[in-house]
Amino acid sequence: MIEELFAWTRLDCLPAAQRLGLRREAAALAVRHRRLRTHWAGHIEQTRTALLASARLAIASPHAPRRAWIMGAGLLQDVPLQAMLELFDTVDLVDVCFGPAARAAAARHPGRVHCVAQDVSGVLNDLSCDPLQAAPAMPADAWCASVNLLSQLPLLPCTARLKRGDSEADVERYGAAIQQAHVDALGRVRHACLIIEYAQTRPGAPDEVLLPGLPARLTTGGWTAGPRWQWPLNPVGETAEPTGRAMQAWWRTGTSAHTP
Ligand SMILES: C[S@@+](CC[C@H](N)C(=O)[O-])C[C@H]1O[C@@H](n2cnc3c(N)ncnc32)[C@H](O)[C@@H]1O
Repeated sequence: MIEELFAWTRLDCLPAAQRLGLRREAAALAVRHRRLRTHWAGHIEQTRTALLASARLAIASPHAPRRAWIMGAGLLQDVPLQAMLELFDTVDLVDVCFGPAARAAAARHPGRVHCVAQDVSGVLNDLSCDPLQAAPAMPADAWCASVNLLSQLPLLPCTARLKRGDSEADVERYGAAIQQAHVDALGRVRHACLIIEYAQTRPGAPDEVLLPGLPARLTTGGWTAGPRWQWPLNPVGETAEPTGRAMQAWWRTGTSAHTP
């Protein structure tokens, strides 16, 4: 608790995101990253490797981007920044919340690393707006990466809408639209990487698919399936029942596609 409070004080957060609880979530995540670093090391390494594989494909292609736009990077836990700086002129770390590591990286590399405070869903200021209209465009000249972010995007906006009395069916549609808008926006840029939690895993139980239909839509939309791995999100002792996530990286290079 004290550790989370301390982590909270060290975060910069957009006011609308803070009102919904994203600063608290980021503080809790920073503390869990420290506490579970051994359990999560493989997942972090796999994420970094997948990001690098996608970025290298992008810069080897015609119209190679000189800029990286990395969303969900505010804690800078799973982004191989040094390697990215060898590939790109500038690296934009995009999030609603930034921790000391991201701020220090921007200070160490002035003009090359930026902390871009942006709500990539576009709904946090006004939860009643249509997610499909609200999501901001991503920079067309950049390699754009969404890092373990897609399943987080709808969580707190949906919780807030349930609290204000919206029906579960409406909120479910709203959450799906937030995710769809994010994938659509990524689909409009030429070079993209999407790292997702596609299923929840439990020992001795079938996987629970979190994003039904998305892999098929990505494939139809011209995305390539990259590596898969397991993330022991809640190892034994962390929760009553251990649970994990089945992860997968997807990428697209050289074409812009509209995900159907
Ligand atoms: C689960 S974390 C992703 C993992 C993260 N890359 C890490 O280092 O652990 C989700 C990240 O997305 C950010 N985030 C959540 N909603 C967002 C939004 N609407 N716009 C931009 N970033 C958002 C959170 O602040 C958090 O840093």
